Amino acid sequence: MTRILSGIQPTGGLHLGNYLGAVRYWVEDQALGESFYCVVDLHALTVPRDPASLRRDTTEVATLLLAAGLDTDACTLFVQSHVAEHTQLAWLLECTASIGELRRMTQFKDKATKGGEEAARVGLFTYPTLMAADILAYQATHVPVGDDQRQHLELTRDLAERFNARYGEVFTVPEATIPPAGRGARIMDLQEPTRKMSKSADSEQGVIGLFDPPEVIERKFRRAVTDTDDGADAVRFDPGLKPGVSNLLAILAAATGRDPTEVAGEHRRYGELKAAVADAVIEMLRPLQVRYRELEADPAAVEEILRAGAGRARPVAGATLRSAMDAVGLLAPR
Ligand code: TRP
Repeated sequence: MTRILSGIQPTGGLHLGNYLGAVRYWVEDQALGESFYCVVDLHALTVPRDPASLRRDTTEVATLLLAAGLDTDACTLFVQSHVAEHTQLAWLLECTASIGELRRMTQFKDKATKGGEEAARVGLFTYPTLMAADILAYQATHVPVGDDQRQHLELTRDLAERFNARYGEVFTVPEATIPPAGRGARIMDLQEPTRKMSKSADSEQGVIGLFDPPEVIERKFRRAVTDTDDGADAVRFDPGLKPGVSNLLAILAAATGRDPTEVAGEHRRYGELKAAVADAVIEMLRPLQVRYRELEADPAAVEEILRAGAGRARPVAGATLRSAMDAVGLLAPR
């Protein structure tokens, strides 16, 4: 049986890179098995977060996932903190992981060195064990994640295997489903095409927000940085030599479900390519934006979906937690 689980952080201002790199695959794959998707609000607390913005962003991301096409008949959508079993299981996994292996996590090293390791939150250090709990609680077989989460997934597999070896078979050992090349287009910043499109970019001009109106999308693509070797065959898919143009081709291909090299053959000039990409992205985002406005107008309906989602998730996570607790020797409460 295929069981899919993935999580997304509640950050405001989701952009085209998030959509084409993650959200879209959740939607496309939601019916391939039993799938669980969560907004990982607890993970957001590993770095300083303003409570009001966390609240707002959690609702925004959940609403956006629904607007993008997650269908609660096909999948279970919920908020991580609504299912307390995640943090309970995380404790058992903290008692499975070693300090040394958590210290080797590159994301921890990157983020902890920024503000100084002494001041980093303990939760930032143990973050991967919570992520492992998210996954293992559902006995997930497949975990769609971006490349940057590969190391956390490897750790999850190690923890599952170690726990099973120590205490007996409790956890399914999951596989990462990193989107295959061509499918998981890595979307780059339009102004700095050698950098991944990211919310933390210096300027918004290189980032297409999922709520950007058509004229803003057009303008951002029109001003996108292209490459300087204007010769014949200027429109070519070659990410190494022509990062700017290749990024536009990758976006156009991803938005239209085609291959970047094939798409390259249909355009002669940068200006014309930019207009085509803008049109394709505007068309792709239009239904999502319309649906978002509808859902946003009815927050009680979204809340109800999340409540029902947590209700479906809890017994699944609870059963795993119970067997894990039992396996390590914790008494069942009477
Ligand atoms: N750590 C992931 C990220 O930052 C989010 C996440 C949390 C996650 N729990 C998960 C992803 C479980 C997949 C499965 O993107």
